Amino acid sequence: MTLALDTRTTSRDPAVTPRGDALISIIGLSKHFHVKLGAFGQTAAEVHALDDFTLDIRRGETLSLVGESGCGKSTAGFTMLQIHKPSAGQVIYGGVDLAQLSEDRLRPYRRKLQVVFQDPYSTLNPRMTVGEAIAEPLLFHGQATRGNITEKVATLLGDVGLSPRFAMRYPHELSGGQRQRVVIARALACGPEFLVCDEAISALDVSVQAQIINLFQDLQERYGLTYLFIAHDLAVVRHISDRVAVMYLGRPAELGPKRAIFSAPLHPYTKALLSAVPEPDPARERSRKRQVLSGDVPSPLDPPPGCRFHTRCPLAVERCRREVPAWREMAPDHFVACHRVGEAIPVPDAA
Ligand SMILES: Nc1ncnc2c1ncn2[C@@H]1O[C@H](COP(=O)(O)OP(=O)(O)O)[C@@H](O)[C@H]1O
Ligand code: SF4
Ligand SMILES: [Mg+2]
Repeated sequence: MTLALDTRTTSRDPAVTPRGDALISIIGLSKHFHVKLGAFGQTAAEVHALDDFTLDIRRGETLSLVGESGCGKSTAGFTMLQIHKPSAGQVIYGGVDLAQLSEDRLRPYRRKLQVVFQDPYSTLNPRMTVGEAIAEPLLFHGQATRGNITEKVATLLGDVGLSPRFAMRYPHELSGGQRQRVVIARALACGPEFLVCDEAISALDVSVQAQIINLFQDLQERYGLTYLFIAHDLAVVRHISDRVAVMYLGRPAELGPKRAIFSAPLHPYTKALLSAVPEPDPARERSRKRQVLSGDVPSPLDPPPGCRFHTRCPLAVERCRREVPAWREMAPDHFVACHRVGEAIPVPDAA
């Protein structure tokens, strides 16, 4: 197969271009963790968890973030939310750069930017009732008074499909799905605009996953929420996303509308990731060739120069080892960072 693509290169980074529909603009966002190595922690080192991440998150969309474990998805989400302080870059929300704000000045924004984690056990205090857990952020942010708190908690429980009597229960009395509903109610308590769902359904049974996905979709419709949906299950990503961003070793590899990413992926890494997703059609599934990636993901302590994927990429050439590939718009709204996409070269087909 040969690729004959439109090779326009945008003169400005597309994601930086101001868009009327961007809720959050992330510009050159990086996060390096300082760690100590060696038996006695004598060697200082830096984990390059996120490097130069630029992207707009559009109001009301579900943008999924995918990539192998350890590639920096959670770090990207937490750095956007200022749970991790960025090492460099900007997070523009409501016309301000959150990265520049002190903790005090961040507080009103924190209400609007929430996270739902994978593990509801670790998110909920086992000694607090469900009612107390949901009341806590409401009272902390001044969104309720002692007079109306019971009513507000009951409304939030109703929003996530639980009856008001759940307010008296403790987390250990709930099923996994009910606990995750409580976590979602807590995240909703202060009227957020943006939710990072970090593997928020991964720990649940498959049947419960479907219910929680439906709940996320209902809430999005009802409250106009915007989601960054971090997941490793690409079948779920295919179902829930408007757009998909693919990351490799702390850097963005590809970004595009869901349909384009799943039906016409451009980056060799995206092709390899998607080749592991089963086809719903049994005939196509039988004839499908899998593309297995060779080698391990390199360490983020010492990421490879140039294109970080070059140590595993079947198309790597000398230039890939030297030069970081530019972020290019290859089709409307479909961006990729790969030197060789757009060249008229034979490309091994992942499908
Ligand atoms: N607090 C931390 N201190 C040091 N290293 C970290 C920390 N958090 C994450 N990392 C490292 O950063 C890299 C990216 O991690 P993470 O964002 O959790 O990846 P993912 O969510 O894609 O699995 C990993 O190598 C991880 O070990
Ligand atoms: S830039 Fe080179 S190494 Fe990186 S994905 Fe493209 S072809 Fe592969
Ligand atoms: Mg993670």
